[in-house]
Amino acid sequence: MIDLHAHLLPAVDDGPMDIEESVAMVRKGWEEGISTICVTPHLLGVPNQELVDFLVTSFESFKERILADGPPVKLVFGSEIYFQPEIEKVLAFPCLTLNGTGKYLLVEFPMQGIPPGAEKMSFRLITHGIVPIVAHPERSSSVLRNESTLYPFIRSGALIQVNAGSLEGKFGKQVKKTALSLLKRGLVHFIGSDAHNSTDRPVSLRRAVETAAQVIGHEQAQLLVTANPEIILEGKPFPTKRLLPSEREEIGLWGKVWREITGK
Ligand SMILES: [Fe+2]
Repeated sequence: MIDLHAHLLPAVDDGPMDIEESVAMVRKGWEEGISTICVTPHLLGVPNQELVDFLVTSFESFKERILADGPPVKLVFGSEIYFQPEIEKVLAFPCLTLNGTGKYLLVEFPMQGIPPGAEKMSFRLITHGIVPIVAHPERSSSVLRNESTLYPFIRSGALIQVNAGSLEGKFGKQVKKTALSLLKRGLVHFIGSDAHNSTDRPVSLRRAVETAAQVIGHEQAQLLVTANPEIILEGKPFPTKRLLPSEREEIGLWGKVWREITGK
């Protein structure tokens, strides 16, 4: 399995506070079958060279430690960038995209809801060749109230990552219900651990995949942690042209009218 979203670097964000905890997180992931982890530290402000250099150096030093005496998990670098009006400044730092391919950016919205201007931001990034991956929208208040607030993003080409913990019910019944509903509607492209420690928010995907499999079947659930994230890390185009529920309904209605007119 591939985990696209994990806070693993010691003492750089609200993830693990020391390197032993970081190593324990990687080990736990390896034990349950996670072979690749994209390390995605929070990026809260406008990216600048000093901050990027600090994050990259922290990553390289952690990777060396894992190579020296950790489990044989492949670590790649990325970031989780908080939504901000100046998000396009990330274009100057391709290493902040997932695995540094310059193609996919993990974007986090405030928990209170999707802010005004977010759709335009998504569109602008895509115009520049970067596809936003919306991190854990099932935890956002506006999505919890109304899932269709996500549709403009999906329509513009953005992709969706839900948290393993959401599917496990760690963030409450409503978040789990929303995550399952998005899955049923075919609007989820990845499950990520969004790991922060080795205890209550570990590098773990297996249980969430089992839950997802009950809704979308084993094969589809596996894709969310294998082939789909692999496409992202390789920087290849992601094959999406899924119909959104409202569009399905429209086509359904017009299809019905068409059949009545033409008798086909
Ligand atoms: Fe995160």
